[in-house]
Amino acid sequence: MEKNKNQYQALINGELYENKQWVTVMNPTTNQPAGQVPALTKTDIDKTYQAAKTAQIVWGQMPILKRIELLNNWKQLIIRDKKNMADIMSSEIAKGVKAAVSEIDRSVEYIEYTLQEALRLHPQSYTGDSWGVINKLGVFEHVPKGVILAISPFNYPVNLSVSKIFPALVTGNSVVFKPATQGSLVGLYLAKLANEAKIPPGVFNAVSGKGSEIGDILIENPIINVISFTGSADVGNRISKKSLKTDLILELGGKDPAIVLDDADLEDAATKIVKGAFSYSGQRCTAIKRVLVARGISDKLITLLKTKTEKLTVGIPNDNCDITPVIDMPTVENSKKLIKDALDKGASCLTGNQFKGNLMSPTILTNVTINMDLAWEEPFAPLLPIIAFDDIKDAIKIANDSKYGLQASVFTTNINSAMSIAKQLDVGSVNINDQSQRGPDHFPFTGVKDSGLGVQGIHASLISFTRPKGIVVNWKTKI
Ligand code: NAP
Ligand code: G3H
Repeated sequence: MEKNKNQYQALINGELYENKQWVTVMNPTTNQPAGQVPALTKTDIDKTYQAAKTAQIVWGQMPILKRIELLNNWKQLIIRDKKNMADIMSSEIAKGVKAAVSEIDRSVEYIEYTLQEALRLHPQSYTGDSWGVINKLGVFEHVPKGVILAISPFNYPVNLSVSKIFPALVTGNSVVFKPATQGSLVGLYLAKLANEAKIPPGVFNAVSGKGSEIGDILIENPIINVISFTGSADVGNRISKKSLKTDLILELGGKDPAIVLDDADLEDAATKIVKGAFSYSGQRCTAIKRVLVARGISDKLITLLKTKTEKLTVGIPNDNCDITPVIDMPTVENSKKLIKDALDKGASCLTGNQFKGNLMSPTILTNVTINMDLAWEEPFAPLLPIIAFDDIKDAIKIANDSKYGLQASVFTTNINSAMSIAKQLDVGSVNINDQSQRGPDHFPFTGVKDSGLGVQGIHASLISFTRPKGIVVNWKTKI
C-alpha cells in the first residue's frame, strides 16, 4: 500500500519509524489537518536515548573533517528541498511562504558558519607557571558533552532546530530532537534528509508527540547530558525543576521594550518598531512587545505608528501577507483578554482589535499604564502597548521590572544617552536605533530572569555543547 504522504516518520537509530499512533498537526489557516506525526511512547523514547548513547562514542571519536563532510551532505539536501520544506512549514505554522524560504536560507548560512567555526575551536594550552611550578604543560581540548536533548518551538521550526542540532553534532555529541508539534512536519522532514545524508544510526534521532504527554519522559531520562530548549518560560521553568543532573540551555519568552527618547529620528524609529512588533504576526521571542515613549513626542510617534501599521497586509501565508493567522485559538483568546483588561482600565485602541477566527489585525493600544496586564505579559500575537513616560528613570524601571530580560532597544540620536541607558537595562542584548533581534546568528544570544539560562549563537553554542578536557604533561627537570 502506498504511504500516506501526509504522515511523517520519526527517526530512531537510523530507521524511519512509526508506531501506528498519530498526532494530527492542524493547519492554522484552513483549520484542516496539515499532516500527522507519530505519537511515540516511553518505550520508543527510551530506545532512542539508548541508541544515541551508544552511537555518540564512535561519532565523538570520528575525525572532525569526516563529521563535517556528513553534515555538509545533509545541508545540501536541505538546499535541494528548500521549496518543499517552506511549503510544509507554511502549512503547519501559517508563516508566509517567502518568509519560510528566508528562514531556510538563514538556516543554511547558520550551518555553513557553524561547520567552519567548529574548525577554529582549537584546544587551549597552559604552562605550569604558577604555584612555583614550571614543569607542567596542560592541553585542554573541547570534548563533546554526550547526548543532547534538543527541544524547539513552533515559530522558527527550522532555524531554531538547526541552531541546536548542528553545533551539537559537529562537536561530537549525539542528538535526540523533539520539534514542536506545530512545526513537527518540517522537523521530521529534516530527519528524513538526515537519514538520506547517511548520518550514522543513532547519532541524530527525531522523536515526536505532544509535549504535554511525552515531555516528562523526554526530560527525565538519565542518559541526557544537556537539554537545549527554546520555548515558553512556563515549560522552560518546568524543565529546570524536573530535569535530572544535566546542563541546561534555556531560551525563553520576552517582553522586549523599545524605549524612544525625545531626540529620536521618529520616522526611522516608527518603521523599525512596526517591523519589530508585527513581523510573523508578533510571534517572535524578540518581537518588540511594548513601547516606552517620552511623553513630549508620543503623539507624533503614535501617528506614525498608526499610519505604518495600517499599511500592513492581513491575510493568508500563500499571499505572503504581513499578518497571517496566529498559531491557535488560545493565543487569540489570550490577546482578547489582555485587550479587554487594558481597555477596562483606561487604555485606548489606536488601531486593530479585529478578529476573524485566528486571524487578528495588528493592534496598538495607547494610554497603557503599569496596572494593566498588557504592560507585563507576553501575548505572542500582533498586539503592541504604548506606555508614555515623563522621566527616563521611570522608563528604565518599567523596562527592568519585567519578569523577562531578553532584549531591548533604545531610539535616540544622542550616543551618550544611548550608552547610559543600555548599560542600565537588565537584558541579554540592547539594540541602539534598531529593533530587538537575535541575529546575526553568530552573535551570542542569551536572556536573563525568566528569559533564559545559558548562551546560544554559533561560537557560544559550540562552547555550550562541549567541556574542556585537560591532559597535563609533567616532567622532571634534568639539566
Ligand atoms: P512552548 O509551548 O513552550 O513549546 C516549546 C516546545 O516545548 C515544544 O516542542 C513543545 O512541544 C515542548 N513542550 C511542551 N510541553 C512540554 C513539557 N512539559 N516538557 C517538555 N517539552 C514540552 O512554546 P511555543 O509555543 O512553541 O513557542 C512560543 C514561546 O517560545 C514564546 O514564549 C516565545 O517567546 C518563546 N521563544 C523563545 C525564543 C528564544 O530564543 N528566547 C525563541 C522562540 C520562541 P509541543 O509543541 O508538542 O507542545
Ligand atoms: O523567536 C525567536 C527567534 O529567536 C527570533 O529571531 O530575532 O532573528 O527574528 P529573530
